[in-house]
Amino acid sequence: MNTSKLIDGKAASARVMQRVREDVDRLRADGIFPALAVILVGQDPASQVYVRNKILRAEEAGIKSLEYRLSEETSQAELLKLIADLNADKAVNGILLQLPLPEHIEETRALQAIAPGKDVDGFHSENVGGLSQGRNVLTPCTPSGCMHLLEETCGDLCGKHAVVIGRSNIVGKPMAALLLQAHCSVTVLHSRSINAKALCQQADIVVAAVGRPRMIDEGWLKPGAVVIDVGINRIDEHGRSKLVGDVDFDSALPHVSAITPVPGGVGPMTIAFLMKNTVTAAVQQAHAQRVSPEAACLSIS
Ligand code: GUN
Repeated sequence: MNTSKLIDGKAASARVMQRVREDVDRLRADGIFPALAVILVGQDPASQVYVRNKILRAEEAGIKSLEYRLSEETSQAELLKLIADLNADKAVNGILLQLPLPEHIEETRALQAIAPGKDVDGFHSENVGGLSQGRNVLTPCTPSGCMHLLEETCGDLCGKHAVVIGRSNIVGKPMAALLLQAHCSVTVLHSRSINAKALCQQADIVVAAVGRPRMIDEGWLKPGAVVIDVGINRIDEHGRSKLVGDVDFDSALPHVSAITPVPGGVGPMTIAFLMKNTVTAAVQQAHAQRVSPEAACLSIS
């Protein structure tokens, strides 16, 4: 395998985490102690793993984590009350509500209840709108991580044709907005797109976020394209369970100039950018309270 084509998300996330740790150290020395509240409602097994990892990584970065594990039966009113309390708590800088929520809770209502300045997922409409207007707001972690990998791999993205496959609120739409902000020409493909494959073949950059194992093979890719695979799909193959992306990695590899593996590509970037957003939120709140503005000199742009 030509490993020089591999985009190493583990190494990139370690570099981001190192800078977050340095920023946290500086803030703590100035009396600012970044804290992240993580709320999990119910017992979804994948969510439990994600939440455990988020809390472990927060500790690694010196960020205080507050864990709220609520039962599946928690009412919407109880959840909204907890979010309101966390919004009002000056010691809490970021609030992460793990998705999916149980069906009896309205996702939009719960996400909109989080104060935009503490919305480290960037899912509140104030932040979504701010991103689309190019304002300096908290942006969703997975697309931010993808942008970081693309900028490290390609340098300036200006003028490149980027194709985003998938239009979810968590990845596809914010990814398209970030690419547009970086002056790419952006095409968003989805399940109703006509000639999706032909359109994708024109892309310099492909971001696949569809949730369908190995859907994108070499036939979708222009020679020399840069491919970011956001998919994490568990499949059974030859009697074994394994994780694969939305891109058929073995088929794509000979045709691309760079590609993220699954696992070890985009996955580790999401948590690193959650930590980065938590620090950014802490700094912005300190500014708003006029606490030690010198402490707000972050090393991360
Ligand atoms: N569930 C799957 N991905 C995410 C994410 O990025 N943020 C939250 N809050 N929940 C998720």
